[in-house]
Amino acid sequence: MRRKLAAGNWKMNGTLTRVTEVMALCAAHQAPSVDVLICPPATLIPALATATTDHAVAIGGQDCHAAVSGAHTGDISAHMLADAGATHVIIGHSERRADRGETSADVHAKALAAHTATLTAVICIGETLAQREAGETLDVVGTQLRDSTPDSATGENTVIAYEPVWAIGTGKVPTLEQIGEVHAALRIALTNRFGADANAFRILYGGSVKASNAAEIFAVPDVDGALVGGASLTAEDFSPIITALENA
Ligand code: 13P
Repeated sequence: MRRKLAAGNWKMNGTLTRVTEVMALCAAHQAPSVDVLICPPATLIPALATATTDHAVAIGGQDCHAAVSGAHTGDISAHMLADAGATHVIIGHSERRADRGETSADVHAKALAAHTATLTAVICIGETLAQREAGETLDVVGTQLRDSTPDSATGENTVIAYEPVWAIGTGKVPTLEQIGEVHAALRIALTNRFGADANAFRILYGGSVKASNAAEIFAVPDVDGALVGGASLTAEDFSPIITALENA
């Protein structure tokens, strides 16, 4: 059985005052039956990693450079994230693919760096609205999955997050059938590549997940949790999503 994962991506939000939100989350979920992960801005990783040491909330980065160190002003390596207390790192989020022109080859290199640093890579894939309307969704996510995921991937060191670009921060969510179709296709693609080991990979859904829609999304086969943006910023919003996943 795959252990489910409720992951929060804070994006470029949060200062030190938000440590109290994570402490409230820890207090509300002392022994959760699912994994819980918060990916704050890199500035908060040391403080949150320290604050959550004795709690069941893991801390992750939102991106890493593919190199271990070097002349890359402003970048942070996977090794540095691990050193700061992170156990996971989000790779290839659509905002980075769009804003920074990251390709699946870049994501592949970053995932390798994450694995070398013993971080779990949360590899994001997803189609744009134009691609969905053109009927290209399964092709697009299949290609992104293939090209972004290194051969070193296992269910331990890699999580796949399906995030339709048009559902991120928009309040629009695919139908449950659409989510199920993509997750089933991703599971088949993983099985074709990794054999029986594919069963160990968690496949998260992301895009406008909230307390009000979490339970129905978590009931879709092959949805092993969520990557949550806006609704992960406060304990009040994220806690019911964790509970919905525990009850799924
Ligand atoms: P929202 O939950 O705010 O739509 O963001 C989803 C996301 O991009 C998580 O990585």
